[in-house]
Amino acid sequence: MALQNKTISIDQLVLNKDELAFYQKQTGIQDEIKLKEHIIEIAQKALEVYPYHCIRTFGFLRFRILRAQSGYKHLLTLGSTRPRAFFLDLGCCFGNDLRKAIEDGFPPQNIIASDLRAGVCISLSPRSYDHSNHSIEQRFLDFWNFGHELFNSDPSTFLVTFVQGNVLDDSFITIQSPLNPVHDLSNASTDSDLSSLSLQSLLSLTPNSYPEPQSLNPLRGYLSAIHTSAFFHLFDQAEQILIAKKLASLLSPLPGSIIFGSQIGADVPMEGVRNGSGTLFYRHSPDSWKEMWEKEVFGGKANMIRVEAGISRDSERRETIWWTVTRL
Ligand SMILES: C[S@@+](CC[C@H](N)C(=O)[O-])C[C@H]1O[C@@H](n2cnc3c(N)ncnc32)[C@H](O)[C@@H]1O
Repeated sequence: MALQNKTISIDQLVLNKDELAFYQKQTGIQDEIKLKEHIIEIAQKALEVYPYHCIRTFGFLRFRILRAQSGYKHLLTLGSTRPRAFFLDLGCCFGNDLRKAIEDGFPPQNIIASDLRAGVCISLSPRSYDHSNHSIEQRFLDFWNFGHELFNSDPSTFLVTFVQGNVLDDSFITIQSPLNPVHDLSNASTDSDLSSLSLQSLLSLTPNSYPEPQSLNPLRGYLSAIHTSAFFHLFDQAEQILIAKKLASLLSPLPGSIIFGSQIGADVPMEGVRNGSGTLFYRHSPDSWKEMWEKEVFGGKANMIRVEAGISRDSERRETIWWTVTRL
């Protein structure tokens, strides 16, 4: 949600006990004041990329992945019991939620993080005005790399695969019919097939691979779990249907595969208006959300999925819809 005011202050940064312990451990910064100053520095930079409400208000520090509790528990079970249970966090921003899942035991090498932004700003350092001594400074201005700064990690120490792309781009994720568990499992159905699979092989990644993967389509049918939080509410109703269809296209047809998340919702479905920009987005109710997945996305085919959804309210009575879609 865009805001015009980009300023933030340390007074607004409140961490509960679990959050404080998580960020102390994950950043390696034990001193609470220093930790908060570090977080503010990164958030301030991120606001220059795009002034999301959740960055300005530090909402991005919350574990949104825990909101759909049954989905989250199931994610951890998949991670520990299903061979090569690959997990996509779409619209991951800094990657806090997937780092929480890793802390709780999900294998990092089986996670794909994806987000829109990978803008590389190339600037010439002062020395470069002397053309005999070119020095080009590359600054990576995407949220994923701010995540590395926030958590004091880099791609060599943090093994999660990142794939940049726009969810609305048809070549990034193509809409296809949800896979059929009986007929479409030939690609990787047996344990021995799965044991040789890796994200690297599926995405044709090599060390320092270039060009970077342009699409998530090679993962079709291999994703056991997909999570999105504070994401669907960025889009209007028609776009939300398209995005849901794309996620269903990628999901493994194995029973127990899940898509889960949370976003701004409502008791009664309605258009929302974004502060600042005035653009419209759609706020689903649990019933309309369920209907969208059952009818629009899975074509009303009985017994393909089970949808669980509910509304929770924060201290300011704002409504969040949390949900889990499970393949049967
Ligand atoms: C409001 S933030 C939520 C981030 C995180 N999931 C959370 O809960 O804190 C929305 C994220 O979606 C990403 N995003 C926005 N539009 C996108 C698009 N069209 N395709 C992919 N990612 C997009 C943004 O870059 C941002 O990281």
